[in-house]
Formats: sequence, structure tokens, C-alpha cells
Amino acid sequence: MSTQITFPDGFLWGGATAANQLEGAYDQGGKGLSVQDVMPRGIVGPRTAEPTPDNLKLVGIDHYHRYAEDIALFAEMGFKTYRFSIAWSRIFPLGDEEAPNEEGLAFYDRLLDELEKHGIEPLVTISHYETPLHLAETYDGWTDRRMIGFYERYARTLFERFGSRVTYWLTFNEINSLLHAPFMSGGINTPKDELDEQTLYQAMHHELVASARATRIAREVAPNAQIGCMVLSMPVYPLSPSPADALAVMDFDHSNLVYGDVHTRGAYPGYFLRTLREKGIELEITDQDREDLAHTVDFVSFSYYMSVAATADPAKKVSGEGNIMGGVPNPTLEASEWGWQIDPVGLRIVLNQFWDRWQKPLFIVENGLGAKDQLVEVDGVKTVVDDYRIAYLNDHLVQVGEAVLDGVDVLGYTTWGCIDLVSASTAQLSKRYGFIYVDRNDDGSGTLERFKKKSFDWYTEVIRTNGASL
Ligand code: BG6
Repeated sequence: MSTQITFPDGFLWGGATAANQLEGAYDQGGKGLSVQDVMPRGIVGPRTAEPTPDNLKLVGIDHYHRYAEDIALFAEMGFKTYRFSIAWSRIFPLGDEEAPNEEGLAFYDRLLDELEKHGIEPLVTISHYETPLHLAETYDGWTDRRMIGFYERYARTLFERFGSRVTYWLTFNEINSLLHAPFMSGGINTPKDELDEQTLYQAMHHELVASARATRIAREVAPNAQIGCMVLSMPVYPLSPSPADALAVMDFDHSNLVYGDVHTRGAYPGYFLRTLREKGIELEITDQDREDLAHTVDFVSFSYYMSVAATADPAKKVSGEGNIMGGVPNPTLEASEWGWQIDPVGLRIVLNQFWDRWQKPLFIVENGLGAKDQLVEVDGVKTVVDDYRIAYLNDHLVQVGEAVLDGVDVLGYTTWGCIDLVSASTAQLSKRYGFIYVDRNDDGSGTLERFKKKSFDWYTEVIRTNGASL
């Protein structure tokens, strides 16, 4: 007999975005350049010397000017929460200056005003793949210990300014992607193939210390703040039942879980120290660093899009399309148009794994299907009949419900790209996730007009019934 799925009272339903993927206005309001402004091809392409007109992020979906209209649409769906990021280079245009840019702070004040007006709880990412470019070019990003101080000043500024209005904060988006996408994730300007592991692991350490310091500062400056880490989750299955493949799974897991382990336990786990020893890496870890790391998070947030498989057999190690974390494709699963393997059950598995391991409330802050949408006219109204998106989200939410029944403490769920925005990995607009279609195309053409998709009404009903309609 199956049990009826019920979501907890006060479950935070909503959607998520990131500044660099939707705001546009890349050079307005005193904003400095960020690494994204020179990444017209996403993760795959090389960076450019300067911003180029083919970079869709420079205009994004013009949310900087249309945020009130967009938030009103989120409110119409009944959003309880909205996850957005603050563009670091709007607040500190270069990143290493002493005083913040008031115009940048004022923009987020106005955005928070709109959320308050509609009773939507903000969920703020402090750093979402948008390190100020100056920090990348002058310090080589997180390879340099001084980044901790710059981030600390930035985080303190945000807590002081917005701490009374924002409860939920995330320190770094997908912090565990640093080794895989050093420029986008860590502002590391040195090309990836010229970086050694010693440098990358030291950069990881700097970010972990910075994250913990932010938590420490929040405790003092914004005592009501709830601080979360944010990791890219990637459940992994053995390609075969052999112990060797099970061990490959353990190793793959360890390489991802170490970030959450440090954030929740306040120290490096033994398996990670062994990895460092065997690689001959000696991290510079000061006594102050150790003390800082002990400031652990209140909750763990994560993105979930797909699972992978792992194998110990070198002949079977083929890489999956669109998967920056490694792993091999799972022959039992279908994939999205971009090769991301669709696995709703994996979400239940990862929720249980994280809960069992960390015993911290969990927040799913990204999940969704990137797909090509077709704008059509139904009864004289322009819309997208996105049944594929509804099916994807419905199947995943049913698994969240199952995890709740398993006893997992889940705070909320925000779909990725609740309004169409520019893709992080490929920098396209045609990879759409939203409930709201935005008329802008990969060649930059389009009116930027917004249209409600079929999934808009579906999600409205899910929220209205607190998940009972699933
Ligand atoms: C996550 C990122 O990795 O996945 C987002 O935090 C990103 O910034 C999302 O947009 C979806 O990826 P993509 O490449 O389809 O935009």
C-alpha cells in the first residue's frame, strides 16, 4: 500500500535564478565586469579579452529593468520563496576596493522591496559563478589567499545591509565545481590545462575557509540568518555489481561529498587527507583557517539534474555529454536534448544520502529540464505547451515527497530558471527551463516579451495544494 505524499506546512516552493544569467545591464549602475561578461560560449568556449556583442548575458533577459514585472509573475504562481544571486561586481565592481557601490546595493534593496510586497521569502546566493573579472585577472581568483578577505568584506557588506530582510543565504553556488570549471567557478584565469592539482586544491581550501568565515560573520552581524552551503549533487551508481565498480562509486562520491563534509562537520575528512597525501599535495592551512572552518552551516542546499554511473574498467570510461563532473552514462536512463540523463529516483536517493550523512535540513535549490520550446497560439493566446517539462518536474517532486515520507527534513524546492534565462554551460537562450517564456533567441533577436507556458498553471496548482495535486 502506498502512503499519500504530503509536504510539510510552510514548505518553501519557488524558483531560482542567477544574476549573470538574467539581469543583463552588465555595465550599468556602476557594475564592474565579471568573469561571465567574457564567457560568450559558456564553459566550453575560451574566454574573450573583452565583452563581445555575441555574449547573451550582457543583456540577459533584461531583468535588471523588468524585475518588478517578473516578480509579479512569480507571485501570481504563488511562490513562497525566490532564489536569486547578488552580482558581486555590482557591489564591489573590482572586488578589492574598500567601499561598496551604493547604486548596486540600492538595486537589491528595490528587488527585496518587490519580494516583500508579495510576501515572497528571499533566498540569496552570495556568489554564483560571477567573480569580478578584476579579481580573476589580478589575483588568479581563488588560488590567492587574499580572496578570502575580499569575499569576507563583500559578505559582511551584504549581511549588514540586508541581514534584517533576508533569512536564507547560500555562500557559493555549486562550490564543488571548482576543480572542473576553474574560471567560471573559481575566477581562476590561468587556463585549466596549465593548472596543477596543488593550486586547485589550495583554491578549494580558500573558498571553504571563506564560506565558513561568512557563516561566522553572519552569526555576529545578522543573528537570524540561516546559512547554507550549496553543492552540485550527482548520485552515482555502479556500472556493474563488481566490488571494483562499487569502490569507483565510493571514490567518485568522496570527491564530491568532501565539500559538504567540511561545511557540516568543520574539518577535512580522513579520506580526503589520504587523497592529498597520495597526490603529494600539502595544503597551506593556518590555525586561523582551522578555527574558521569550525563555523558550520545551518542547512545544506543543492542542485539536482541528473545521476551518473561509475566504473573501474578503463575501457568503459566514456564521458557523458554535458556532464562537467565526470562519471559515465547510465545505460538504463534516457537523456535530455543536451545529454543530461533524467533520473527522478536519483533525487530521492540523494536526499536520503545527504540527510543520513549530515543530519542538516536540506533545500533543493535547483532542478529542472532544459528544453527547446515552441511558442504557439492556443485560443488566441501565445504560450508553450510544455508537457515534457511538467512531466519532468512532476516526477521529481513525487520523489521529493517520497523522501519526506522517508523522514528527510526538506525545507523547500526552487526550480531552476523559473523564467527563461541564459544557460550557464552553453550560454544559449534556447536551453529553456522557465514557466515563463522570454522572447529572446540565440542570435540575440527578440522583443524580450514574457509569455506564460502551460507549466505556469501546473506549478501554480502544485503550490496552491502544497503538492497534493502531484
Ligand atoms: C547549475 C548552475 O549548474 O545548472 C546554474 O548553478 C545553471 O547556473 C544550471 O544554469 C543549469 O545549467 P545550464 O548549463 O543548463 O544553464
